[in-house]
Amino acid sequence: MNGPSEQPTVVLVGFMASGKSSVGLALARRTGWTLVDVDRDIEESTGQPIPDLFATRGEAWFRELEEERTSAALDLHGCVVVPGGGWAAASRGLETLPAHVHSIWLRVSPEAAVARARQEGAGRPLLDEVEDPLARARELLERREPHYRRAGLHLDTEGRTPVELADAIVSHVRRERTPTKNQT
Ligand code: S3P
Repeated sequence: MNGPSEQPTVVLVGFMASGKSSVGLALARRTGWTLVDVDRDIEESTGQPIPDLFATRGEAWFRELEEERTSAALDLHGCVVVPGGGWAAASRGLETLPAHVHSIWLRVSPEAAVARARQEGAGRPLLDEVEDPLARARELLERREPHYRRAGLHLDTEGRTPVELADAIVSHVRRERTPTKNQT
């Protein structure tokens, strides 16, 4: 059994409503690692929901706080870090991850993301406050995809449960951490 300082950390990236929070929870339950859901932490510490923070403080303010909280969590070992869908494309993103961090991209189509976001109700200002959420989702996803693509594992989410996705992530992390035979 590895001590906490040797444990890996996983960061889940992907578009809004790709299932990051549910998969993060399933993965934390499966591994015993600590779940850091950055949006929920921000809401708890400010006492305000994300849409209110966007409206009163603005997106740039939110991005700074998001980066600060996410990068602090990524320095820890044995965590499942779930930033919001914009983090990977803003500031540091996936460019300079610490060596113990495994990045996973949860893929979702813009159509499925908009349908799921609608089902979950209001809460995503970037989709809720536009006339055509699908066009907005397509445009945002096109801009963000090159950033998400940097992740070490890409998983399609449609038709797969959070537990199945968490299992795939555990196998990936195990594989990555097993030293290859014949390595010099
Ligand atoms: C955002 C995604 C949201 C939240 C905020 C902005 C984005 O999180 O951080 O509304 O820019 O994609 P989820 O990805 O959990 O929906």
